[in-house]
Amino acid sequence: MGNAVEIYEVGPRDGLQDETRSIPLSEKVALIDCLSRAGFSRIEVGSFVSPKWVPQMAETAGVLAGISRAPGVRYAALTPNMQGYEAALVAGADEIAVFASASEGFSRANMNASISEALERFQPILEAARNIDLPVRGYISCVTDCPFDGKTPPAQVAALADRLFALGCYEISLGDTIGRATPDSITKMLIKVRDVVPVGRLAGHYHDTGGRAIANIDASLALGLRVFDAAIGGLGGCPYAPGAPGNVATEAVAAHLERLGYNTGLNMDVLREAAGLSQAMREGADV
Ligand code: HMG
Ligand code: MG
Repeated sequence: MGNAVEIYEVGPRDGLQDETRSIPLSEKVALIDCLSRAGFSRIEVGSFVSPKWVPQMAETAGVLAGISRAPGVRYAALTPNMQGYEAALVAGADEIAVFASASEGFSRANMNASISEALERFQPILEAARNIDLPVRGYISCVTDCPFDGKTPPAQVAALADRLFALGCYEISLGDTIGRATPDSITKMLIKVRDVVPVGRLAGHYHDTGGRAIANIDASLALGLRVFDAAIGGLGGCPYAPGAPGNVATEAVAAHLERLGYNTGLNMDVLREAAGLSQAMREGADV
């Protein structure tokens, strides 16, 4: 297991949330059921956010009710506030995630709140989750670049990672939300963050908008990261770069890691099947 690297599948959430076509529940369920056979330990299936902000995620409770849960897989959902937390519990999410931004501009655009207001909303979520032993992941967006504020100082990311970890997030996922990071900027950011959160509790969440996600994963591997988020079929786009790819594709990351000699525990045939489903969803074809 010394060579293990985990891919955290975020396609059904981070990928689909940006799709403009209203995707039928049955297609989402079919995709997740296929992903459940691939060997993931954690799959993010949706989010309990305002349906006015992200209409595509409005049916996440239906998704959780509709999937066939595979043993050993934790099905996760994002929760921005207590309203989302309570809905996630009722729907039976196995873990939840809170999400903050390292830059004020993106925090305002994504959460309608400053960074500190967002943290205030997370505090009761983390307290309530701790009482029932529900794992909470913490996301940080814009870890190197923000579409509104420009470059993000690494110390700002480290301070937020420190806060989220202290509040009780078991893992901090570091997001290059707009895909502008480079191996150099990722390295500088990670060196600061590693000072405050153990590297084994960090994950890289890199978007491929600039075509450098795999290079950024390599830079992160060199610094000791062993968890990476990815979306099957490279699902999703970037609202700040129309037409450009969004999340790095799971199957590309898995193939790359296996070539480097890491063990992802994933079945490549099932990944190909799931990538095919995701492609059909994107094109609006029947699956
Ligand atoms: P707001 O408008 O300021 O909220 O939005 P509010 O508290 O004033 O409520 C307004 C309405 O939303 C009310 O309904 C609430 O009930 C409803 P109304 O009375 O008008 O009918 N509402 C909710 N409904 C369902 N579930 C909820 C919920 N909360 C309020 N949980 C809010 C504030 C945070 C809700 C909003 O900004 C929001 O939903 N933001 C989420 C945006 C989002 O999901 N973004 C994508 C995920 S983050 C991401 O992709 C980055 C990541 O991948 C990492 C990376 O790449 O960097 C994680
Ligand atoms: Mg993302």
